[in-house]
Amino acid sequence: MRRQRPLGSGFGAAGTADDVLAGVDLTGRTALVTGGASGLGLEATRALARAGARVLVAVRRPAAAETALRAALPAAPHGAVTVHALDLADPAAIRDFADGFLATGRALDLLIANAGVMACPETRTDAGWELHFAVNHLGHHALVNRLRPALNPSGSRIVAVASAGHFLSDIRWHDPHFRTGYDRWLAYAQSKTANALFALHLDTLGADDGLRAYSVHPGSILTPLQRHVPRDEQIAQGWMDADGTPAAGFKSPAQGAATAVWAATSPLLADHGGVYCQDCDIAGPATTDDMLVGGVKPWAADPESAARLWDLSARLTGLDAFA
Ligand SMILES: NC(=O)c1ccc[n+]([C@@H]2O[C@H](COP(=O)([O-])OP(=O)(O)OC[C@H]3O[C@@H](n4cnc5c(N)ncnc54)[C@H](OP(=O)(O)O)[C@@H]3O)[C@@H](O)[C@H]2O)c1
Repeated sequence: MRRQRPLGSGFGAAGTADDVLAGVDLTGRTALVTGGASGLGLEATRALARAGARVLVAVRRPAAAETALRAALPAAPHGAVTVHALDLADPAAIRDFADGFLATGRALDLLIANAGVMACPETRTDAGWELHFAVNHLGHHALVNRLRPALNPSGSRIVAVASAGHFLSDIRWHDPHFRTGYDRWLAYAQSKTANALFALHLDTLGADDGLRAYSVHPGSILTPLQRHVPRDEQIAQGWMDADGTPAAGFKSPAQGAATAVWAATSPLLADHGGVYCQDCDIAGPATTDDMLVGGVKPWAADPESAARLWDLSARLTGLDAFA
């Protein structure tokens, strides 16, 4: 936890993805955003493309993504933003996407591991894995390991979009796939702790080769992520009022994308790999159980747990390109 200390980045909760990229030229850089055509991912895609990056958007519904991106980026130069099929619940689809990218011979400079699901009814993938753990974590573990040959030796960054939802659960080492006692919030929480631990260990493995990894909490933002949470429950939780207005303290999607984009590009983080960020800065240790206050819980910043999760994920997916 020593490294979890804010730097004073000059940005805060109100900053947008465009704000953190003001004056940053990403021309010639290639970025990949999973789930990059909806919610926070769409805003990250838009900001990275505006800053000149070539952006690959990897999604499970390519036709819908094309439509969303045409509306969001009507003036994007041809080929600046491309849509690719990727279902993170399907190991074969991850292999096919990665093989397609590797065949281009291009280096991958930035990867925002953003796609995710929340509070789903109990669901298992074909491999028998619990859906949140499979999509939010194991799918991204497999993707990054498959893409290892394309990570740029002169410096790639990987940002795992975690959440303050990690407050609710450590990794359930005894039962990560919820063979007993399924709870949709604990399943989401475990997967978000896994996102933070994934970035922590990936950074340890990659730092000597110029690969740095970070995790972020984007804030609270009303997006399609809440699709499995009934409206009455969202009102009762205080996320919105009866007419759908977001609660005080909620961010816009453009503000929600800012921390991931900042972590992917800020020179301030060059010597701080592996950290968990929020509000465009390194988060401090969590001092309360209030997710809105934020910070990082000890179980999401523990290097031994991070190494243990890496081993578990490598065993489950059969992929460890950093061994
Ligand atoms: N919104 C918040 O308040 C909040 C707070 C903390 C953390 N986060 C995190 O932020 C990230 C983005 O969430 P968001 O709020 O922007 O929600 P969102 O709009 O629902 O975006 C999530 C994206 O993930 C994609 N996805 C879901 N399952 C997938 C799969 N099997 N394979 C590939 N892509 C898949 C979705 O695709 P479809 O469009 O096809 O469903 C969608 O594009 C998530 O990791 C979430 O946990 C969000």
